[in-house]
Amino acid sequence: MSEKFYITTPIYYVNAEPHLGHAYTTIVADVLNRFHILEGKETYFLTGTDEHGDKIVRAAEGAGEPAERYVDRMSQMFRDLWPKLGICNDDFIRTTEPRHKSVVKKILERVHEKGDIYFSDYEGLYCFGCERFYTERELVEGKCPDHLTEPTMISESNYFFRMSNYQDWLIDHIKRNPEFIRPERYKNEVLSFLKDPLEDLCISRPKSRLRWGITLPFDENYVTYVWFDALINYISALGYPEGELFRRFWPVAQHLVAKDILKPHGIYWPCMLKAADIEPYQHLNVHGYWNVDEGKMSKSLGNVVKPLELVDIYGLDAFRYFLLREMVFGLDSEFSEDALVARINADLANDLGNLVSRSLTMARKYFQRESVQPGKQVEIDEDLKRRALQLLGEYESNMEKLGFHKALIAIWDFIGHVNKYIVKTEPWVLAKKDRERLSSVMFNIIESIIEVSVLLWPFMPATSEKLQGILGLERKGGDLKLRNLGLWEGLRDVGKISKVPHLFPRVEVKKEAGVGEEEEEQKPEERRKEMVSFEEFQKLDLRVGVIKEAHNIPGSKKLVKLLVDIGEERVVVAGIAGYYSTEELVGKDVVIVANLMPVKLMGVESNGMVLAAEDDTGVHLLTPDARTAPGSKVR
Ligand code: MSP
Repeated sequence: MSEKFYITTPIYYVNAEPHLGHAYTTIVADVLNRFHILEGKETYFLTGTDEHGDKIVRAAEGAGEPAERYVDRMSQMFRDLWPKLGICNDDFIRTTEPRHKSVVKKILERVHEKGDIYFSDYEGLYCFGCERFYTERELVEGKCPDHLTEPTMISESNYFFRMSNYQDWLIDHIKRNPEFIRPERYKNEVLSFLKDPLEDLCISRPKSRLRWGITLPFDENYVTYVWFDALINYISALGYPEGELFRRFWPVAQHLVAKDILKPHGIYWPCMLKAADIEPYQHLNVHGYWNVDEGKMSKSLGNVVKPLELVDIYGLDAFRYFLLREMVFGLDSEFSEDALVARINADLANDLGNLVSRSLTMARKYFQRESVQPGKQVEIDEDLKRRALQLLGEYESNMEKLGFHKALIAIWDFIGHVNKYIVKTEPWVLAKKDRERLSSVMFNIIESIIEVSVLLWPFMPATSEKLQGILGLERKGGDLKLRNLGLWEGLRDVGKISKVPHLFPRVEVKKEAGVGEEEEEQKPEERRKEMVSFEEFQKLDLRVGVIKEAHNIPGSKKLVKLLVDIGEERVVVAGIAGYYSTEELVGKDVVIVANLMPVKLMGVESNGMVLAAEDDTGVHLLTPDARTAPGSKVR
């Protein structure tokens, strides 16, 4: 029997549209789920919506809709968003569904029968935003710490859950299972909260005040407090108590939440489970907050980040990569579009994009599966293989510990090594003089790309599958398991290699005009340079040339060193590394300025300049439209 994995996200309130924060949590859950699929586990991934309570009633009223219709419409927005973000959840639960309501009633009955629910008068300070009572001690300057509003004094009779009965058990459980709440800072926060006596939890709302909720099974006049209702989704979706899914997945349950809802998940929920004689979950994984403009995202500030808008501009995989690479799990992060663009250009267009386009273009040109037949000797590059194995280990251990950014750093480190290996082995030179060695070099490169494609699958599923598709791999995406790597035998599956598309175009950064600078684009005639006479123009020696060799320049992300035949051989340095792979360049006809003063760039002397045109889509070399003899004059 394979090992199992069960991951949940919070069920999101339907009082507002999904934003960056919801997208992040759900993407992290998807990344974790896919990682466990790669580990060969049987997985289950649950998300959904939280639809009861005051907050929702007020939002429905604000929208001028009956609550039923409002929650249907809003819940659908979440449900529709997830596939667009590449989320592959197995189930989507809504707290208004009968399957959920019946489990909430069962749990309430059970805890009630046990004597852990009692009826009592209560007078307290209530925050409508949080939908809970606050003690004086919890308020900050008399206000709710989250909503910064003064709570209202409410006096009513209600039902209470004897949470205090479970305080000692919970402290002991957390101490004996140090990974129960992680990262550690959040475990410590819960333990520090538990130093003071726990108050019992008010779990009902009189129908005179709120009708939109689940009626208590033992008192028709009350509905269930929204948190007591919502937390139960994690087991109602599995068909508690008899459900097959519950039996299989509950013992390995892991929740994923942000720090805002640490207390209900770290305190109420384990106590509720204990009271209902259900095993506690395995892990509560808590992440930090995405801030915008150094503060919270908020409708009133107009800085709510909408995930689909970013995906439309930058692409889904770039967005997913950025979120996971940028945030250290557990800590807060500042979101900015500039940071997103910087990551796309440096990590995706440059590092990964270069590796993929140069390797797979070469693979298509020089190499098909037939080049490495079983039994044919290939020379494995031991250094590259050792690094690949080391990467696998680092990746697995970081992913297990929620160190997503570290796992990505390790992959990018490896990408850097493969890029270096290509520069060192120069397959384009071997293609002309040593086909045997070329086979071995290409074998090592393709095995490395297969590994990168598999490890990227949780983060960038479409890119990973595209890479595997180009290689004609018979097993794709999650079918390739981590245990298949490390053996360096993925090539057995490689088929016909297809044309390589441009995966990550660079994002041009539009410079904002500063004070005093002209805001509008200049008119074409203003952009033109000053006039030159024909004699002056004739001073330029423009020649047709053909690129014989192209090499990346170590330490430079922009420059390539070209050997150009213009009737004689010239070394020319060109700033086109982000736009062409060195393999694509070899054999290209170009136009060069042949009498430009030599200049040293990154230690290489350049004797000329290659002409190219640039627009929003990138840099394009100028080429005569028919084969022209090298050295021909351009007039
Ligand atoms: N309905 C409750 C959860 C009940 S779970 C049994 C709720 N809903 S919520 O819509 O407010 O979602 C809160 C969650 O959304 C956070 O815990 C986090 O997962 C995500 N985020 C919302 N804003 C966020 C940020 N600014 N940054 C990161 N994640 C945040 O609470």
